[in-house]
Amino acid sequence: MASSCTSLLLLSFLILYDYLPLSQSNQFCDAGVKYSESTCGFSSTSSSKLLIKGGTVVNAHNQEVSDVYVEDGIIVAVRPNIKVDEDVTLLDATGKYVMPGGIDPHTHLAMEFMGTETIDDFFSGQAAALAGGTTMHIDFVIPVNGSLVAGFEAYKSKAKKSCMNYGFHMAITKWDESVSREMEIMVKEKGINSFKFFMAYKGSLMISDELLLQGFKRCKSLGALAMVHAENGDAVFEGQNRMIDLGITGPEGHALSRPPVLEGEATARAIRLAKFVNTPLYVVHVMSIDAMEEISKARKSGQKVVGEPVVSGLVLNDSGLWNPDFITAAKYVMSPPIREAGHDKALQAALSTGVLQLVGTDHCTFNSTQKSFGIDDFRKIPNGVNGIEERMHLVWDTMVESGQISVTDFVRITSTECARVFNIYPRKGAILVGSDADIIIFNPNSSFEVSARTHHSRTDTNVYDGRKGKGKVEVTIVRGRVAWQDDELKVAPGSGKYIEMPPFSYLFDGIDKADAKYLSSLQAPVKRFSAS
Ligand code: URP
Ligand code: ZN
Ligand code: ZN
Repeated sequence: MASSCTSLLLLSFLILYDYLPLSQSNQFCDAGVKYSESTCGFSSTSSSKLLIKGGTVVNAHNQEVSDVYVEDGIIVAVRPNIKVDEDVTLLDATGKYVMPGGIDPHTHLAMEFMGTETIDDFFSGQAAALAGGTTMHIDFVIPVNGSLVAGFEAYKSKAKKSCMNYGFHMAITKWDESVSREMEIMVKEKGINSFKFFMAYKGSLMISDELLLQGFKRCKSLGALAMVHAENGDAVFEGQNRMIDLGITGPEGHALSRPPVLEGEATARAIRLAKFVNTPLYVVHVMSIDAMEEISKARKSGQKVVGEPVVSGLVLNDSGLWNPDFITAAKYVMSPPIREAGHDKALQAALSTGVLQLVGTDHCTFNSTQKSFGIDDFRKIPNGVNGIEERMHLVWDTMVESGQISVTDFVRITSTECARVFNIYPRKGAILVGSDADIIIFNPNSSFEVSARTHHSRTDTNVYDGRKGKGKVEVTIVRGRVAWQDDELKVAPGSGKYIEMPPFSYLFDGIDKADAKYLSSLQAPVKRFSAS
């Protein structure tokens, strides 16, 4: 009796925990040489079952050899020796890392900017991302005539051709009652939990300190994260005029007109205003030691400040801007500028020690024709560089291969921390039972090479052209579907998914207590005797 009970238990255990059901594997059609935009009958709701066998599964908190079983886009089992029937799609990951797909917190797809529009849209940019192991990105919605609702609708429409996960931040470019009201709509109805304030781009996106304060207060009340592009826009304007007066009209004038001190000043100002309001702050594209040190000081004092370096700032220096060929030089123009050698290494060190927390790209691509708008005047060169496809490889090569961070750290800075900051963890950023099956298989013994001829972005240049390194994303899986394998994209426009991000991330924990402490510390108003 005892032994038959044991057998029954064993059988139930095998059924429940080890033996997973049969399925038909679903394949995307291979839609062309690089990719094409045919939908090839793809339906984002069709079911899929996948078993990834024998890899080292890496999360931000640990790594272990394990199998990963996926059903209908969700991870349903993570443990060794999972058995399935023959027709479940098998992926052998022996000797490789199985990691959460990258999440890029900072992109600009199909953005109208500086009199033109970024060349990568929500299909080409995302296809490039998938080829590089990124399965989700968060793009910046630009309001239409100051209206957030109109901006959201416009981006919803742009994003119809998506083929991976995406979310939105929202830029705030003016201030009035309707903006304040629409911020609430964005947070409560549209799944946006972060707002970006541009302290630069005078005459277009730039806002005043007064707006920054109003915006920070509103963000706090909604549980939304305030983000800043930190450069002193008035001083940049002055610096640009100075360069033009000196006859410096080429791309090098861009870097000279907006030195690190202006980034440091604005970062410090934003940090102090966020402290005054007592709300968390996220500093986007930290490009200089000056800005990084302000973040470091604030964090040491206990303030909730997140610093986001971008790949260009981590691995490039400003030498390209002095290239005698205009197009070569102009491709490096972005803001804040790529800095002199030394800033890159300091930002890497800050990332490896936790002073900076996660890596974005600020992917904002313009082709050579668009960059040529500024052939006679660097102020007219559209600002932005590529990176969505290269981020994972370059961060691996620069940070892990050099011994600066561990493999678990790699997962944290390319995926998990972004999911935590934007409040979608552990649905995203983890390989855990119940998480979305956004997964990469990474071969540390293979290698990569960046080339503008073979990349998947629509742009004709690449700021990382010719870079080689160790490690390669061999397979990218988005919500349970293989989207990149054998150097081929299997994607279809319209298969992407908008990911709503709820307010009040962990960064807001304790804010109310700090407010209460502040109020009780005031010892005011003082009760005074009347003068009669
Ligand atoms: O040069 C840049 N960074 N272009 C994109 C817009 C922004 O400031 O993020
Ligand atoms: Zn910016
Ligand atoms: Zn940006």
